[in-house]
Amino acid sequence: MYSKGVVMVEKELRVSKIKDGTVIDHITAGYALAVLRIIGLTGREGNIISILMNVPSQKLGRKDIVKVENRELREDEVHKIALIAPNATINIIRSYEVVEKNKVKLPKVIKGVIKCANSTCITNGGEPVQPTFIVENVEPLRLRCHYCKRIMTREDVIDQF
Ligand code: CTP
Ligand code: ZN
Repeated sequence: MYSKGVVMVEKELRVSKIKDGTVIDHITAGYALAVLRIIGLTGREGNIISILMNVPSQKLGRKDIVKVENRELREDEVHKIALIAPNATINIIRSYEVVEKNKVKLPKVIKGVIKCANSTCITNGGEPVQPTFIVENVEPLRLRCHYCKRIMTREDVIDQF
């Protein structure tokens, strides 16, 4: 019985808990590598990074998880993650404990984070005009350019990350 129990535990173990850093959980399945690109991590920085892809999730069916040791996220990074993974939760870990848990949230208006996909848009014309989008829908993502009214989808956004 005892050894059977141990085997059961090993079956459940996917990656270790982290000591200090950030766990980005409930990422849309298949988008973990995009999240790493957003944070600008290549793996050559030296800190431990764990990536789980397509793991079963009660809420989402399948999900990705990214665990990064010794790194916290900036607000602009969280906004970018929200664009591709609207259900993601950002957990801050200190001394193995989750000290903060926040669901990503998109602001109603997104300024200066992504470019308009319309090459003739005034925001792409070298004018000092910040690209600005109104979030019309989160899932599926629909952003409308404030200037040229072009609709941007998740695919248009992911191309930029
Ligand atoms: N985690 C970790 N290292 C720690 C603490 C937590 O890697 N020291 C991970 C957990 O494995 C989990 C995530 O951080 O993927 C959130 O942890 P926790 O809040 O304990 O899990 P849940 O309650 O399942 O989270 P939620 O309610 O957000 O689904
Ligand atoms: Zn535009």
